[in-house]
Amino acid sequence: VESVIVAIDGPSGTGKSSTSKAVAAKLGLSYLDTGAQYRAITWWMITNGVDVADADAVASAAGKPAIVSGTDPSHPTITVDGLDASGPIRTQDVTSKVSAVSAVPEVRERITELQRTIAASAVQGIVVEGRDIGTTVLPDADLKIFLTASPEARAARRSGELKGADVHTTREALIKRDAADSSRKTSPLAKADDAVEVDTTDLTLQQVIECVVTLIEEKR
Ligand code: C5P
Repeated sequence: VESVIVAIDGPSGTGKSSTSKAVAAKLGLSYLDTGAQYRAITWWMITNGVDVADADAVASAAGKPAIVSGTDPSHPTITVDGLDASGPIRTQDVTSKVSAVSAVPEVRERITELQRTIAASAVQGIVVEGRDIGTTVLPDADLKIFLTASPEARAARRSGELKGADVHTTREALIKRDAADSSRKTSPLAKADDAVEVDTTDLTLQQVIECVVTLIEEKR
């Protein structure tokens, strides 16, 4: 079986993580959640007293934290300076600040380099999910997928994940984060010209997984 590099991009709540993990596990590929890396560097900034609204401060600290991602799709891990960050990176506080941190070019340079190193060392191939994987991080990926879904479907999925969160508030926060991610100068959320767009609004997770697996098998 040949090694294959798959880029899965799209806004929040389109099913990127669930799909990417399941597809990678099914095909024996590695998996990388690039959003978790941006969340991890954001968590480090917060816990080290860096004002995330101060782009210069964020830029000068960008090289400091050691971020290590585990690439097993059935057990994804992330550590920051040796500490398990998988819990803290999912808090509301990190979620509300990650777009500001990830818009800083020095942060993107640093994290992009990490991502390319991880992808290059995945012998069996890898599924990399994010916002700019097909456009910037891995422009030569064998397959690029761009997942979309209606704002209503995305908010409903996210509120289901965040137990107790109200759909309206989730929808507003999600729209705000996507707008910030899509409008930033450096490497915004965008569909690559050669990406296959899959609208997941009316599909089950199983259907999305099957669709992506079929697209990968066509490439191998
Ligand atoms: O995918 P997730 O929602 O965890 O991503 C968190 C944030 O990380 C995004 O809202 C975006 O600001 C940033 N991100 C990015 N580029 C990527 C992946 C995530 O800027 N490739």
